[in-house]
Amino acid sequence: MKLIVYADPKQLAEAAAQEIISLLIRKPDAVICMASGNSPKQTCETFVEMAAMQGTDTGKFFFVGLDEWVGIPPDTHGSCHHDFRVRLFDPLGMGPSRYHLFDGMSADLDHECRKMDVVIRDKGGIDLMIVGIGMNGHIGFNEPGCDMNALAHVAQLEPITASVGQQYFKTAMKLERGITLGLGHLKNSRQVILLATGQAKQDIVSKALNQPVSSTLPASVMQTLAHGVVMVDRAAAGS
Ligand code: F6R
Repeated sequence: MKLIVYADPKQLAEAAAQEIISLLIRKPDAVICMASGNSPKQTCETFVEMAAMQGTDTGKFFFVGLDEWVGIPPDTHGSCHHDFRVRLFDPLGMGPSRYHLFDGMSADLDHECRKMDVVIRDKGGIDLMIVGIGMNGHIGFNEPGCDMNALAHVAQLEPITASVGQQYFKTAMKLERGITLGLGHLKNSRQVILLATGQAKQDIVSKALNQPVSSTLPASVMQTLAHGVVMVDRAAAGS
C-alpha cells in the first residue's frame, strides 16, 4: 500500500482524476466502482472536466456503485444513486446500460446482492475502486465487525454512520441498513484508491494505517493491498 499526501483537496482530486483518465487511456472499457458522499465529489467533477479537456474516451467504461442506503428511493437527493447521476451519468451522458447500482428499495436484497456479484464477475472484475472512509473506519457500508472477505451484502449501520449520513439529505431520514460491495471486492479489484480529506478524518486515517489489521477497523484492509493507494490531504494526514 502507498500513502500519498497532497497539499489540499484540489490537488488530491486532480491526482485521483488523473488515475481514472490513465486507466481509461489504457483500457477504455474498464470497470470502475466509486463511493458516493463527500470524499469523491471533487474527484468526479475534476475527472469530468479533465476528460473533456484531454479528449479522453469516456464512452465505453462501465460503472458500478459501491453502495446504497436501504429504503431510500433512488431519486432522493442524498441517495448514492442520485450522487452518481448528478456527478457522472448526466455530465457524461451515461445511460443505464453503462452502469449497475444497488436497488436499495428491492424487496429481495439478497437477490440484489447476488445480482451485483454476477454483474461484476461477468464484466471481468473491477479495474479501479475509489472509496472513502467513515468515521468508524468503514469502507462502503462494511461496518466494524464485517467479514473482511465478503462480497455484496446488507449491513446493519452503526449509530455513527446513521447520524453522520443525515448530512447528505435535505430532511431527516431513517438510515438503518446499507447494501454494499464487500471488502472481498476491494481485495479482488485491480486498483484501489482510498480518499480522505479534512482534519475530521485525521484520527481514523491514522488508526486505519497504523493499527493492526482487523475487522473492527475495516479500512485497515488497505494495509494488506499491494495495489492500494491512500490519498490524503495535509489536514487528514495531520501534517
Ligand atoms: C458512501 C460510502 C461511505 C463513505 C464514507 C465517507 O458511498 O461508501 O463509506 O465513503 O462514509 O463519507 P464522506 O466521503 O462523505 O466523508
